[in-house]
Amino acid sequence: MNILGIETSCDETAVAVVEDESVVLSNVIASSRQSFEHLAGVIPEEAARRQLECMIPVLAEALRKAKLNWSAIDAIAVTKGPGLLGSLLVGTTTARVLASIIQKPLIGVHHTFGHLSSTWLRESKNEKRKTSHSDFPILTLSASGGHTDLWYRSSHTRGMLLGRTRDDAAGEAFDKGASLLALPYPGGPSIAKAAEGGDPKRYAFPLPLEHDETFDFSFSGLKTSLKYLLRDFRLDPQSDPGILRNIAASYQFAICRHLADKVNRALCRHLGTREVHLVGGVSANTHLRQWMTTICGIHDAKPILRFPSSLAYCTDNAAMIAAAGFFLHNELGDRAFESFETSATLPLGETVLRK
Ligand code: KG4
Ligand code: ZN
Repeated sequence: MNILGIETSCDETAVAVVEDESVVLSNVIASSRQSFEHLAGVIPEEAARRQLECMIPVLAEALRKAKLNWSAIDAIAVTKGPGLLGSLLVGTTTARVLASIIQKPLIGVHHTFGHLSSTWLRESKNEKRKTSHSDFPILTLSASGGHTDLWYRSSHTRGMLLGRTRDDAAGEAFDKGASLLALPYPGGPSIAKAAEGGDPKRYAFPLPLEHDETFDFSFSGLKTSLKYLLRDFRLDPQSDPGILRNIAASYQFAICRHLADKVNRALCRHLGTREVHLVGGVSANTHLRQWMTTICGIHDAKPILRFPSSLAYCTDNAAMIAAAGFFLHNELGDRAFESFETSATLPLGETVLRK
């Protein structure tokens, strides 16, 4: 089964073709992020206008790279939300028109469910990792610029949301921190680079929600601590590379420690967890991956740690949407083809089915 995926929830125009659950035949992305770098954010109308221009060339390129024509496409999967409404509409309207022309089913995918499916993506058949029920239960930390949440699933579409951020997302904490340090957007890669060789223990940041029993996250306090650290100690990271290195390393450490702390607590509660998955833009962070490797190693059940096989599958992409479409169809049958609305604010609870 070949599924064509379309993802346009933020500033990217992404189209991919995925064979069955995981083999990526093509994964094309055109991003207007560079033009927004100096703003530390995205202008929604401008992003949607660029997506209108890019959509047809990106679609053609995805089919060309997959070496397929339209008759070989069995279904179309598209991000239905959440995200920027204008951008989402470019993707879903294109998908609806295409599905109607080629007379193939259309699957609406929650953006977060796309990220949850990204750890199965592989470049070739030889690398293919078949989904098996023995993989589950899986604990997945999904952390990006728009969301940070922790899931516990007994299959792809069944499970529960254990916790979520109460304020900023983890990626947002990186982005806002980078802005305070006058580093370029997006902040995650900038801070990771600036932190190289720095001392992560040089500046102490609080551990958020330390005495809270839930699996929720909170990042806004870390950003505020960074702001006061710079103000109170009159630190000027730009004029001293050593200070910048240590602050970036300490701030990165604080964000990753908070994420790792909650994953650790969830593993203590859910002893039967077989795998821990890290997904979303923040899963590209090497320091976070090291934390998670250590955490998985200290638990008796020794859960397997997985993250997307390529950086391109950590950040927003259409291959994960196509894979998600496959899993939805595989587990829900024709219910996956039910009509859907395009929505900027889609509740997290609608990501996977509750038991
Ligand atoms: O998943 P994604 O591409 O888009 C959203 O759905 O938000 O994630 C983007 C976020 C940004 O906040 C970016 O700063 C963060 O992921 N990010 C990283 C790294 N690469 C991207 N955060 C930490 N370390 C990285 N290496
Ligand atoms: Zn995302």
